[in-house]
Amino acid sequence: MKPRVLHIDPYHIDLELLKQAAEVIHNRGLVAFPTETVYGLGANALDPKAVTGIFDAKKRPLDDPLIVHIADVKDLYRLAEDVPPEAEKLVSCFWPGPLTVVLKKTELVPDLVTTGLETVAIRMPSCAIARKFIEVAGVPIAAPSANLFGRPSPTTARHVIDDLDGRIDIVLDGGSTEIGIESTVVEFMGGRVILLRPGGIDLERIRAIVGDVEMPSRPAARGKSPGEYPQHYSPKARVIVVESGFHQAKRTLSTAAEMVSKGHRVGILARQEHEDLYREFDVKILGPAKDARTCASRLFHLLREFDTEEVDVIVAEAIPEKALGLAVMNRLRKAAGPEPTTNFHPASI
Ligand code: TXA
Ligand code: MG
Repeated sequence: MKPRVLHIDPYHIDLELLKQAAEVIHNRGLVAFPTETVYGLGANALDPKAVTGIFDAKKRPLDDPLIVHIADVKDLYRLAEDVPPEAEKLVSCFWPGPLTVVLKKTELVPDLVTTGLETVAIRMPSCAIARKFIEVAGVPIAAPSANLFGRPSPTTARHVIDDLDGRIDIVLDGGSTEIGIESTVVEFMGGRVILLRPGGIDLERIRAIVGDVEMPSRPAARGKSPGEYPQHYSPKARVIVVESGFHQAKRTLSTAAEMVSKGHRVGILARQEHEDLYREFDVKILGPAKDARTCASRLFHLLREFDTEEVDVIVAEAIPEKALGLAVMNRLRKAAGPEPTTNFHPASI
């Protein structure tokens, strides 16, 4: 069955429409909704039968835990216990907003939500539609990104429908999401703060509040955590990352030309500064390399556009891994999977 699409004006939120969505939640249904990061696919987090529907609809493996979304900070203490002071500081600075904290779970949280882990991931979104929806539903909402597992996260209601048509009940359409990339996920261990996934809140801003933040050098070795899957956020096309540095444009051109000569349909995902150099190719502009915020907001959308055009190789220019650029490059590298990157090599010039 086609999902019902309910258009919600973020400036004049129609509570009657949210009540319809809340009713679906109470009947164990699935509601896709906008957040400031990406669209989420929500179900009642306290009801394992409802949560099963999320895994089925997304074809998500049963060992990938979900984030629980709340509208009131009081719910943090119903869902989590032994909340360390570092978590409280971060939450008071960045909630509501794109920060997810991983904490020891209480009995209220079903094992299915955390896929058997002793910890639960919790976030309070800043998007007004998301918060009102959670409030009207009156229960915490478990929600992963509303894409099919492995695909780029959805930043519009259209993306959600492209992936999940026939598999969900309602889409709350609140337009394009503001940040375009998922939340930052952090975990706490005996006074240490560990970054599990870079995202909408920069690492620099987190460090300013809690001091040192550890970054697992090999997230894949950490077991059940974000980054566990070497390939993720992928368009159907193969993605080749061209690292920053000398002659990045030249290396991009030669990689693209080589792929064309092999008979591939090639797209280039470029920094705005290089736009004019790629006129003979199908080029899409991620944004100015120094404007990571713009790049983040466009990344998933452009990867999906290349899919629509049935491009089979995307040659993507790296941007600096500063501020939101860290999250952009994390997603781009995951989209590329184990594909080798094209790096600066003096002999190749
Ligand atoms: O911005 C976001 O975070 C979006 C919106 C909808 O809120 N949600 C999102 O959810 O990106 P998802 O499921 O696509 O990514 C959640 C990540 C996963 O990589 C998962 O492994 C991790 O959070 N996660 C969830 N619970 C965890 C836990 N208990 N321990 C470690 N990682 C956890
Ligand atoms: Mg996801």
